[in-house]
Amino acid sequence: MKAVVLGAAAGGGFPQWNSNAEACRRARAGDSKAAARTQASLAVSGDGERWFLINASPDLRQQIQAQPILHPRRALRSSPIEGVILTGADVDAIAGLLHLRERQPFSLYATQRVLDVLDANPIFGVLSPECVLREEVPLGQPFTLSHLDGSASGLEVELFDVPGKVALYLEGGRNTDLAGQPGDTVGVEIRADGQRLIYIPGCARMTDALRRRLSGAAVVLFDGTLWRDDEMVALGLGPKTGQRMGHMSVSGPDGTVAAFRDIPVKRRILIHINNSNPILLDDSAERIAVEKEGWEVAYDGMEVSP
Ligand code: MLT
Ligand code: MN
Repeated sequence: MKAVVLGAAAGGGFPQWNSNAEACRRARAGDSKAAARTQASLAVSGDGERWFLINASPDLRQQIQAQPILHPRRALRSSPIEGVILTGADVDAIAGLLHLRERQPFSLYATQRVLDVLDANPIFGVLSPECVLREEVPLGQPFTLSHLDGSASGLEVELFDVPGKVALYLEGGRNTDLAGQPGDTVGVEIRADGQRLIYIPGCARMTDALRRRLSGAAVVLFDGTLWRDDEMVALGLGPKTGQRMGHMSVSGPDGTVAAFRDIPVKRRILIHINNSNPILLDDSAERIAVEKEGWEVAYDGMEVSP
C-alpha cells in the first residue's frame, strides 16, 4: 500500500485566509519553520498508479497540481483518481468534490448518513450519476476497493464510527444532538499486505472500541486539531472549545498523546491540525514535546506508506 498526505491542516488551512495571528503571518511569509499546509486529505493506492482519496478537501485542485502522482497520463481526458472515501459531511471533507466535476468517472464511498447530505444538496448533482457512482458503505463491514476496470485494488477498506459531531452547517433542525448519529463521523481502516493504516481526522474522545481497533496498526493518522481545548478562546480567535467542535485535544490528561501512551502503534502521525495549534511550528516547545512522545506532525506531501 502507498499512502501520501495531500493536506495536513484542519478546516481553513494554514495560513487561514482571515487569520492575522503570528503563526499564520509566518506561514504567509514563507518561513521554513512554519510550512503552509492545505486542508486534510490522504491519497492511498494499491499499485502506485491508481489512487483513492480519503476526503475531498476544498484545496483539492491545488493538491492535485502539487502531486504528480495525481496528474492525468493515460487518455486525453483521464485521472489516476478512481475513488473518494468520505469520513463525514464537513465542508473540509466534501467541498473538493466540486473540483471533480467534468464528467470524469470515479466512485464515491460513504455512509448513508453522509450520502443523504450530498443527495439533499443539488450542487453535488454536478457529479453526474452517469459518471460518479455513490456507494453506501455500512459501518464495520470491510470491502475491497475495485479499480474502474473492475480489477481488485488490493486495498480492503472498513469505515467505523468514532465520537464526533454533526457538520457545523447542519447544526439545529433534525440534528438536536450535536454529537450526531452513527455514520456522521467515521474513521477509515485500510488493509493491505497484512498491514493496517487508520485515518481519523476528527475524534471527540478515545473509547475502548477505538483503542482495540488502533492497537497494532502500522500507521495511524489522528485528529491533531487543537493543542489545548480552550486555545481558540484563550487566543481570542473564536468562542468555541475543541470539545464544542467535536475534537479531543493533543495535550492534557484526556488528550491524544496521553490516550495513545498504552496503545501499540508503529507510526503515529497528527493530522487535521488547526492554524492555532503550535505544533505546526517546527521551532515550538509543543512540537518538540510531541516528537519526544513518538509522534510525527503531518505536512503536505508526507509519505506515510506502511
Ligand atoms: C471541524 O473539523 O470541526 C470542521 O471541519 C469545522 C468546520 O466545519 O469548519
Ligand atoms: Mn474539519
